[in-house]
Amino acid sequence: MLSYQHIYHAGNLADVHKHAALAWMLKYMTAKPKPISYLESHAGRAVYDLDAPEAKRTGEAMQGIDQTLSWFSQDHPYAQAVAATRAVAGSTAYPGSPAIARHLLRSTDSLHLAELHPQENAALSKTMGRAAKVYQQDGLTLMRSLSPPMPRRGLMLIDPSYEQADEYLWMPRLLGDVHRKWNVGIVVLWYPILTHGAQAAMVQSLRRALPEGLSNEVTFPPARPGHRMIGSGLFVLNPPYGLAAEMDALNGRFASL
Ligand SMILES: C[S@@+](CC[C@H](N)C(=O)[O-])C[C@H]1O[C@@H](n2cnc3c(N)ncnc32)[C@H](O)[C@@H]1O
Repeated sequence: MLSYQHIYHAGNLADVHKHAALAWMLKYMTAKPKPISYLESHAGRAVYDLDAPEAKRTGEAMQGIDQTLSWFSQDHPYAQAVAATRAVAGSTAYPGSPAIARHLLRSTDSLHLAELHPQENAALSKTMGRAAKVYQQDGLTLMRSLSPPMPRRGLMLIDPSYEQADEYLWMPRLLGDVHRKWNVGIVVLWYPILTHGAQAAMVQSLRRALPEGLSNEVTFPPARPGHRMIGSGLFVLNPPYGLAAEMDALNGRFASL
């Protein structure tokens, strides 16, 4: 299938929610000198040009990062990752999750990134160079097979495009399996909040099966009339200390939109 392309949505409000949380968690984890593993199931191309015709066609970044960058102090790790990316790739560049990870992680950390789409994978490999191991295979299968990673301290981001309705059905079992194999890993699942509520049963079963997980959702106006995404959700296993307070502050910002 693979019709989803993140360039149409890069830097939108869901990215702001997901990437601000990710950057904060990676900063927290790298405060200790011990190396970590960073794993990602659906990595995308790492750096997006918000001036590209695809991004301009939807204009989602205008409602997203363009409107919200001022929410973050200059020393917030998300703002720092955006600034570092723009310093290298230009003022209209936006860092996807692998670029945020590369900015915050150290040469002693290990990055494993899955991206199935051939062009996205090629762009990802080029951008990450030797900083990451990039795989062109199904990210969910890879996440299972790499768990538990070495080093064992680490974070896994699962960020599917939900192109297939049954992806919602797979997530509770995937998170349960990964958590059983890697009980110290921070596992982060992103999901959209949709007008027709396609995510609701998945979220309910995650909360029931993994009650210790931190569940955080924000809602926002649709990017355009009739757009079905009206919010963004994160489900985090082994949330780092302080994440709940960080997310509360961010939720307050989203509530003001
Ligand atoms: C939501 S985007 C990723 C965005 C990225 N995580 C970020 O935050 O910057 C989803 C990506 O998953 C890729 N993809 C779709 N199905 C996949 C699969 N089964 N395994 C790995 N990648 C897949 C798509 O090509 C797309 O680039």
